[in-house]
Amino acid sequence: MNNWQKSKELIEENEKWIPGGVVSLNRKSEPNICFTKGTGSHVIDLDNNEYIDYQAGFAASFLGHNDPDINEEVRRTLENQHILMGAGPTDLEGELAHLFCDAIPGVESIQVTTTGSEATYHAIRIARAATGKDHIIIMQGGYNGWHNDVACNVISTKEAIGPRVSPGEYPIDSISAGIPESSKHLVHVINFNDLDSVEYVLKRYDVACILLEPILQNIGIVKPREGYLQGLRKLADKHGFLLIFDEVKTGFRHALGGYQSICGVTPDLSTFGKAVANGYPLGVIGGKKEYMDYFIHPDKEKRVLIAGTFNAFPLTTAAAIATIKKLSSDKYNVYEYVENLGRSLEKGLNEIFKNFDLEFFVARQGSAFCTYFMDHAPIDFHDIIDHHDFDFDRKYRLELIEQGVFNFPLPIKQGSISFAHTPEDIDYTLESTEKVLKKLLSKSDSRLAVKNKV
Ligand SMILES: Cc1ncc(COP(=O)(O)O)c(C=O)c1O
Repeated sequence: MNNWQKSKELIEENEKWIPGGVVSLNRKSEPNICFTKGTGSHVIDLDNNEYIDYQAGFAASFLGHNDPDINEEVRRTLENQHILMGAGPTDLEGELAHLFCDAIPGVESIQVTTTGSEATYHAIRIARAATGKDHIIIMQGGYNGWHNDVACNVISTKEAIGPRVSPGEYPIDSISAGIPESSKHLVHVINFNDLDSVEYVLKRYDVACILLEPILQNIGIVKPREGYLQGLRKLADKHGFLLIFDEVKTGFRHALGGYQSICGVTPDLSTFGKAVANGYPLGVIGGKKEYMDYFIHPDKEKRVLIAGTFNAFPLTTAAAIATIKKLSSDKYNVYEYVENLGRSLEKGLNEIFKNFDLEFFVARQGSAFCTYFMDHAPIDFHDIIDHHDFDFDRKYRLELIEQGVFNFPLPIKQGSISFAHTPEDIDYTLESTEKVLKKLLSKSDSRLAVKNKV
């Protein structure tokens, strides 16, 4: 049994000064571990326990923790005394924008924010300004940030959202108090992979945009069905609303050109964050010039505000430039390397799981993976709450942590392989998985005990 005494004491001390003892309460978990150092694929906690890390800073550290090339660029920028000037452009932001537009097929120009939430916030604003409509469509089980329009329906309980309605609308299950009813009234949450639900909403409301993760990666890995994203594109063109891909998780992790370069569908706007600066805080909104130019619209009534004291902060911009350069480099072949590791992990997990008496499905896209305890690939969130064994997932994650393999201890959270992971890390993870399954499933009644679903 790992000892997390110092972590526990730190959180108790913090509770005097920080509500909940942790900044950003989505980081709070059971066990609540305080990590103090990350190097490559490994992290160390306050009690000196070491783990192979698949949490990767909520999927941000795609090259691995403290990548030396990225840190070198940040250090150089710091040594050049280039922090915050606050007037005019920096010499770095244009370079980042150029690299970005070259890399992503649907992006003709960008603006830079500090977080992914700000990027999705601005994307929705542009959609409303450009269409003159107020309603938006988002996905059940998607996560697009913390602001009023999108802070709802992530890993909801079935009591809160009810059974699948198709086609139709789900109730808003807010993940925050303090959101005005008038704001909720403009948001329509529908099932992923279901074009009929989009048409249902379009018939009833004036829709400005659909905002979605092209793969739902905040409830594991839920992939779009063949033709689904293409269908959304057609509906957007026909009905005059904007298609916005939230690539905060898929962008840069699955391909330099984002998931849009894999699926071949060009959104009107896209948002990015996380992997783009390999753990440094940076968000991006980008897309077609005709929409991005709403930030400089000559008509003041139509102009969309973008402002932020720390937008394109030089240290994080330098990190993003270095990250994109490294991801593009033939010297490293990052995407081929992580695909190979991902494939080995998927193959190994399948081989291990099939020896045990349990339903499972290993879902994977490149370096991102999730094991579901159900017998098929999920098509949407309801499929998961109806079939996935949440209790078993929770126990499985906790036992893996005991073995020194860290996935976030919350069911259906995605695991992230980084460029710093090694074949030995994958071997160790597979050995640990087998040990954990033997332990959890050897108790004669364990399967019965874990059958309760959320
Ligand atoms: C798909 C997606 N969009 C937006 C966000 C919000 O990004 P941030 O936490 O940087 O505000 C997240 C964060 O997890 C995300 O996964």
